[in-house]
Amino acid sequence: MLPNLKSRNNNVSHSSTNLQFNVQPGGSLQGKVRVPGDKSISHRSIMLGSLAEGTTHVSGFLQGEDCLCTLNAFRIMGVNIEGPTDDGKVTIHGVGLHGLHAPSGDLEMGNSGTSMRLMSGLMSGQAFDVRMTGDASLSKRPMKRVTVPLASMGAKIDATATGTPPLLVHGGSPLHGIHYDMPMASAQVKSSLLLAGLYAQGETSVTEPAPTRDHTERMLRGFGYAVKTDGNRISLQGGGKLTATDIDVPSDISSAAFFMVGASIAPGSDLTIEHVGMNPTRTGVIAILRLMGANLDVLNEREVGGEPVADIRVRAASLKGIQIPEALVPLAIDEFPSLFIAAAFAEGQTVLTGAEELRVKESDRIQVMADGLLACGVDAQPTSDGIVINPGNFTGGTIDSHGDHRIAMSFAMAALRATQPITINDCANVNTSFPGFVALAANAGVKITIA
Ligand code: S3P
Repeated sequence: MLPNLKSRNNNVSHSSTNLQFNVQPGGSLQGKVRVPGDKSISHRSIMLGSLAEGTTHVSGFLQGEDCLCTLNAFRIMGVNIEGPTDDGKVTIHGVGLHGLHAPSGDLEMGNSGTSMRLMSGLMSGQAFDVRMTGDASLSKRPMKRVTVPLASMGAKIDATATGTPPLLVHGGSPLHGIHYDMPMASAQVKSSLLLAGLYAQGETSVTEPAPTRDHTERMLRGFGYAVKTDGNRISLQGGGKLTATDIDVPSDISSAAFFMVGASIAPGSDLTIEHVGMNPTRTGVIAILRLMGANLDVLNEREVGGEPVADIRVRAASLKGIQIPEALVPLAIDEFPSLFIAAAFAEGQTVLTGAEELRVKESDRIQVMADGLLACGVDAQPTSDGIVINPGNFTGGTIDSHGDHRIAMSFAMAALRATQPITINDCANVNTSFPGFVALAANAGVKITIA
């Protein structure tokens, strides 16, 4: 019997004990799986639903710890939110853009960079002060990328001397629109400014150096708020209102990616991943795997609540190493840990450049993946903005995930083609994005247990 990895009752716990995955080598992935709801869309559904006028019904909500942090934050600011039910239904009784109350304590954002950065924008427009805290990983992540442009809109935010959390957002500062030319391709920065822009006088606009996920823009429009997209410039006018709507959250392509890679590398695999979100700003992983020679069929393409969705059939294939096109990097930004595993089992060298953002994710994903691959016998050389992987004899070994959910799940899939067991330490944070991962992976064919 597998321990239940699912968070219960919204009591977001951050255990300090070492949850370990033990994965035996070999196997293949078969059948049909449905992975949990999209993390980015789930966060935004709570934020916009809470600030809308009327009642928003969400289905397919991701009950991972990150999204529950966002949900709890709005609850303690006075929003009546029912659920999530076991099948992911949430009912949000919106209070309108100016209906939040001062919370009685800190907003605890756990491991969630999305919560902290998007909420920085939203909280800048409130009449009250808010303090936002994070876990050990989030407390090291850069926040100046949002606090600096928000300050130029009039926001007053205190951070540590190095610009990291906790953040104290002072309420009651009038905001005015700005134009911001983003120095990095970041959906979190874009979203933070657009959400502050709801409260700002005049127009708020951003230009992005490369396309990033556009869930904020899409969902704002779904709530009846006009957002203009003109090439790489996105803008909105402050002072409007959000009108409640219903949101059907598709499965997270970032969670599906582990299974795409697993089925591609494990001989004999034939797996269908159902109801996967196919927003074109998120499908870089499919494009990259196809360039590597993966056998992926996109089936039953349809649209659900303003987001494209499809089923993805994956059969094992002989992958080849590639130079990853830099234009695809922001479109696959969360999928590189699993793509590095694909590269480790490919024929020939894979080179990634232009991906320095990976160094400031939940862990330094370039270094932590390189260390893990080396521990498994693979030649992986980190560079300042990427990695060079020379596939070799992938044996197995002990991995330190550094509490990074995506590192842990990537190495769990690697065991399908490893020749020796893989032990992965510090896996509790898999719950931040993928509750039920171990049970789902075991059902599909990964020989995984929890210690
Ligand atoms: C996210 C944006 C990305 C991504 C993160 C979720 C979002 O971060 O890595 O997991 O929901 O907006 P960046 O904007 O920092 O690239």
